[in-house]
Amino acid sequence: MAASPLRPRARSAPAPVAAAPAPAPAPPAAPAAADTPEARGKALFSQPLIGSQAGCMTCHKVDTDDKIVGPSLKGIKERAATRVEGKSAEEYLKASILAPNEYVVEGFVQGLMPAGYREALTDDQLNDVVAYLMSI
Ligand code: HEC
Repeated sequence: MAASPLRPRARSAPAPVAAAPAPAPAPPAAPAAADTPEARGKALFSQPLIGSQAGCMTCHKVDTDDKIVGPSLKGIKERAATRVEGKSAEEYLKASILAPNEYVVEGFVQGLMPAGYREALTDDQLNDVVAYLMSI
């Protein structure tokens, strides 16, 4: 077997050693969940429990018109404005969370919606939940 000729050495300058890559910039921190009243309200609404009270989503749908125990709250901001004469949508929503028996939605029974949210929610949390309901 004939010896194969040695490969001529490359005369050219050795390939430049790649400069050590600059350290990659730290990846941007995961975007914080939007800290808006609507986002906080949505999170609260979705809790299985609020304090010792059942969470809202155990009884209310927001994405379909289906009833669970309570009426769907899809599009509630329009209905809320017309429920009680003299009450704005926000006022009605607050009242229906804090004092659910003051106005009972037609077709539903009084006393099903827990009446303990006044203790379970701070004023800020109540405002957040209302902001969320006004956004869906
Ligand atoms: C155990 C079930 C239950 C839970 C939990 C519950 N609700 Fe209700 N809710 C009802 C029922 C039943 C009604 C209808 C009867 C009435 O008006 O009280 C209602 C009515 C409402 C209404 C009035 C809807 C309309 O069409 O006028 C709003 C607003 C509402 N709930 C919001 C909430 C929010 C916000 C929470 C959580 C903080 C919550 N509910 C938790 C059962 C529930």
